[in-house]
Parts: sequence; structure tokens; C-alpha cells
Amino acid sequence: MNAPTGPVNLTEHSGSSGENRLRSQDESDGADPLARAPRHVAIIMDGNGRWAEQRGMPRLAGHREGVNAIPKVVDALAQRGVQFLTIYAFSTENWSRPTPEVEGIIQLLHETLQRETDRFNRKNVRVVHIGNADRLSPEIRDAVERIQDETSGNTGLVLNVAFDYGGRQEILAAVKALIREGVSPERVTEEVFGSHHFTAHSPDPDLIIRTGGELRISNFLLWQSAYSEYFHTPVLWPDLDEAELDRALASYGNRQRRFGNVIPDTGS
Ligand code: FPP
Repeated sequence: MNAPTGPVNLTEHSGSSGENRLRSQDESDGADPLARAPRHVAIIMDGNGRWAEQRGMPRLAGHREGVNAIPKVVDALAQRGVQFLTIYAFSTENWSRPTPEVEGIIQLLHETLQRETDRFNRKNVRVVHIGNADRLSPEIRDAVERIQDETSGNTGLVLNVAFDYGGRQEILAAVKALIREGVSPERVTEEVFGSHHFTAHSPDPDLIIRTGGELRISNFLLWQSAYSEYFHTPVLWPDLDEAELDRALASYGNRQRRFGNVIPDTGS
């Protein structure tokens, strides 16, 4: 796993902490739903292909437009107090798409990594790859390493880029790692298991947004999303704007997170 080392303080927002669960619940009484930003937002960026097809363009043009949307969403969420953003850029299953589309997305990844480092540094964004790197070419692996290294000192939003990522595969890898390390069954707690995931440096996602109108999780953050809130929108990823993001955040802000608990008696 390539979880980075660095100054990410997880003590106040461990995904499995009961204390954190109750604190989140207490915070749900705020009057302005936008005032309570989720700490970690994760996004399934769906709809690039349809965006292109609607315009009579090749699917890859939709992916290119999809990449252009990423910095705008990063900026908007950082401004609204979000500290971690995880974007689903390429799943383990996406390798089975037609070769020109796969090669085109990988090329886009390469270009983006080379082009965006300065911008991320200016914006104090730390970039972390989550997923497998072994099917990427050495050149792209180097570019991934480089952007992680060059942004590792940034203290603002952490941008997890899920590329060649699959939730089931991540869980299997964590199980295998624990076995390899000889960890005894009684030591396998939620915290220990979570720490063997790519996202060990991040709290569990508070809010998962899926664009493009589908209502499924598609092998994304399966372990981490046990108590995430979901927001679906028909808006295609390249068209996601601040107004729609605010709708997602307001929807989140209006929810009462109970984490399996009961609604507390306020005595009123
Ligand atoms: C889903 O749209 C999108 C993808 C499978 C890839 C998303 C990729 C990017 C935004 C570009 C690569 C990312 C980086 C960081 C370089 P779809 O193709 O399934 O759309 P459809 O459902 O309309 O067909």
C-alpha cells in the first residue's frame, strides 16, 4: 500500500471512533446546513461518455472535459471547508473498456500529473494516489511518485486520486497483508484493518457523491463507506458546478447521522 507519511492528523476524525460518531451527530443541529461541511467528500465522477455523446464528440473528449472539472471542484470544496476529497478516476474494472479509451484515459492521467503540480502547490493541495500502480508504465509510475513527493508538504486539502482502484481488491490486499505480517486474529480490530487500506491517512468519507444519475457504488470505498451519506445527481460529471455541489453539501448538512445509534433526546 502506498499510504503516505506526513502531517495528516487523524486523531479527531478516525472513521471508526465512537467518540467521533457522537460528535458528528451532535453537530447536526446547526441552523445553516452549509455551515457544517463534511470533512471528507468522495466522488464517483460518472457521465463523461454521455457528455461527449450528447455533443457528437468521441468519449475521450468527455474524459478530457472531466479532467478539466477536477480543479474547479477541488477549489470549491476546499473553500467550503472540506479537508479530504477522494475522486474515482479509474476502477480495476475499467481496464476492460476498449483499448483506445483506456490508453486515452491513461494519457490524460499522465498529462494531468505533469501539468497540475504547480497549481496544486499554489493551492496547498496534497495529492495521493490510491489504488494499484503495478499495471501502470514505469514512466507514469514515476509521474505519480513525483506529484506525491512534490505536494507532500502541503497542508491544505488532501486529494486522493483513485486510479486502478477497486474496493474488493483493496479489502483482499489488506487481508493478505495481515496474514503476511502474522497478525493474530484478536489483534485484527477495525482500526488495524483500516490502517491496511490505501486510505489509512484519511478519515472515512462523510459524503459520497455520484454524478451521472446511476444509483450504485461500483466497488468504491467499500470498507470505508460503512456510514457514509450518499448524494446522487443526474448532472454529468463535466457539468458539475458550484450550485450542484452546494445542493449536495446542503443535503448532507440537513441529515442527522446516527451511526446505528438512536436520535438523542434533547429534552425539549
Ligand atoms: C465515468 O464516465 C468516468 C470514468 C470511467 C473515468 C473518469 C476519468 C476522468 C475524469 C479522467 C481521468 C482522471 C484523471 C485524474 C486524469 P463514463 O465514461 O462511465 O461515462 P458514461 O457513464 O456517460 O459512459
